[in-house]
Amino acid sequence: MSEKSMVPSRFMFCVMVISMFLLVLSTIFLLQFSSHSLIPRSVLELIIVNNSSFYFTPDFKKEQIMLPTYPSDDLKVQTLKPRDSDWKVSNSSQKRSSVEQKNKKMNRVCDPTRALLKVFMYDLPPEFHFGLLGWKGSVNQTWPEVGNPSRIPRYPGGLNLQHSIEYWLTLDLLSSNTGKAGQPCTAIRVQNSSQADIIFVPFFSSLSYNRHSKIQGEGQVSVNKMLQDRLVHFLKGRKEWKRSGGKNHLIVAHHPNSLVDARRDLASAMLILADFGRYPVELANIKKDIIAPYRHLVGTIPSAESPPYDERPMLVYFQGAIYRKDGGIIRQELYYLLKDEKDVHFTFGSIGGNGVNQASQGMSMSKFCLNIAGDTPSSNRLFDAIVSHCVPVIISDEIELPFEDVLDYSEFSLFVRGTDAIKKGYLLKFLRSIKRKEWTKMWERLKEITHHFEYQYPSQSGDAVNMIWQEVARKKSSMQFNSHRKNRYNRSQRLVKTN
Ligand SMILES: *[C@@H]1O[C@H](CO)[C@@H](O)[C@H](O)[C@H]1NC(C)=O
Ligand SMILES: *[C@@H]1O[C@H](CO)[C@@H](O)[C@H](O)[C@H]1NC(C)=O
Ligand SMILES: *[C@@H]1O[C@H](CO)[C@@H](O)[C@H](O)[C@H]1NC(C)=O
Ligand SMILES: *[C@@H]1O[C@H](CO)[C@@H](O)[C@H](O)[C@H]1NC(C)=O
Ligand SMILES: *[C@@H]1O[C@H](CO)[C@@H](O)[C@H](O)[C@H]1NC(C)=O
Ligand SMILES: *[C@@H]1O[C@H](CO)[C@@H](O)[C@H](O)[C@H]1NC(C)=O
Repeated sequence: MSEKSMVPSRFMFCVMVISMFLLVLSTIFLLQFSSHSLIPRSVLELIIVNNSSFYFTPDFKKEQIMLPTYPSDDLKVQTLKPRDSDWKVSNSSQKRSSVEQKNKKMNRVCDPTRALLKVFMYDLPPEFHFGLLGWKGSVNQTWPEVGNPSRIPRYPGGLNLQHSIEYWLTLDLLSSNTGKAGQPCTAIRVQNSSQADIIFVPFFSSLSYNRHSKIQGEGQVSVNKMLQDRLVHFLKGRKEWKRSGGKNHLIVAHHPNSLVDARRDLASAMLILADFGRYPVELANIKKDIIAPYRHLVGTIPSAESPPYDERPMLVYFQGAIYRKDGGIIRQELYYLLKDEKDVHFTFGSIGGNGVNQASQGMSMSKFCLNIAGDTPSSNRLFDAIVSHCVPVIISDEIELPFEDVLDYSEFSLFVRGTDAIKKGYLLKFLRSIKRKEWTKMWERLKEITHHFEYQYPSQSGDAVNMIWQEVARKKSSMQFNSHRKNRYNRSQRLVKTN
């Protein structure tokens, strides 16, 4: 909250600096080049003609009913791909800030040329996606009707749900050109792959792993392996794949064991993963791939009902298996260090079935929730803590976090190095030193960012689906940057070679 009190003065300072700069610029350019200005004419007009439009106060009132206004980085991200047309407002009744126009646009049907990301999706046979959910369309029907949410096949619940990212992204693409107003204009499906920014592979790899890993008969392979083999064969034969050796493809493999047979063949693609724990760095890394949040298993606490500091009697909550194979040693040590403390709560096992309610209660009654490395660096626990507004304590040195380029996790989580956490008395001393005021600030921030971790259909501005598309756009643009730099000397090199 104290952030906000700083904003006006800093903001006013920026406004003054910018306006001085633009005034000088505009004078020079208007005098010298008349209409050939570097800055689009409309921007100058906007500033010169109407100083009140300088304050960029978009009229959110209408949108607030449908879309909550998010304090976060959505707007910052949308400016990533500025389009000239947004500025070509030559008519005084349209002179508005670009921000306002963009927010207005959200309530209109998305125009593909304005979408942040144009996505081509292969029409893979249903056995690769909704068929795995038991869906059967009519003859030759590849996709379910998505117009009617009650007729969309459901993803199985329980622990499966935490890796359901594949499902939400596919649904979002399917509905992106149904012409339904109200959805954010972020990713839109295009039919011509040459016009796409990225090629999406709609294989439900996590579900395939969870449901179809059993080997049927002797000498046979599992459905999961068979699907992966067919996928590799299919992709390697496509002109879209050959065009860039797969680099322009997006494949979801959120379960750490999904895509295990095909990952070596498909690793040039951009992967959407839970973490890099089971990948060698040459197959997957943070430069090329995207970390997506788990779908949380406990229910989100509405902000207004979230218990504050004094109504969370438990200091620390941890739920999970205590004895883990790799990297999980630390859990065991912590358990022995903390088990006799009175305001520390340890729950064993994963939270399937009835455990969900218990975990939800436990987390919402606790000030801090431990997220300790297990046999993989990440787990759904972090996201369960976030939606319970229980300040996450992350003890996992190798963890990679979703959307960390736009979210500063230190504002709402605590990080403790593994070597420190197992020092006797260290952790509790540290947590007890975080007093009510400091904790409350993190709790307030948690409530603000929770929506970034929600998967839903239809997707909404700033939710997890939307954040993932924005991340894809950013990753793609940084990859492009690197590849363009590599091209710098190609022509002169050619001359050198021929001489
Ligand atoms: C300035 O902009 C505001 C809001 O965008 C508008 O209501 C007002 O009429 C404008 N004034 C002029 C002089 O254009
Ligand atoms: C510009 O802003 C000043 C101060 O807010 C106001 O007095 C003036 O009327 C405004 N001019 C226009 C053209 O909107
Ligand atoms: C300005 O835009 C409005 C709405 O788009 C339109 O009705 C009007 O005719 C335009 N005026 C001029 C001068 O182009
Ligand atoms: C299904 O597709 C096949 C091959 O493309 C075609 O011959 C057949 O007529 C289609 N059936 C229907 C019901 O559209
Ligand atoms: C797809 O787009 C490319 C490039 O814009 C164009 O040359 C091609 O004709 C298009 N193909 C179809 C089938 O529309
Ligand atoms: C330019 O050269 C680099 C390095 O030799 C190569 O990787 C890249 O593919 C070339 N680019 C083009 C467009 O030929």
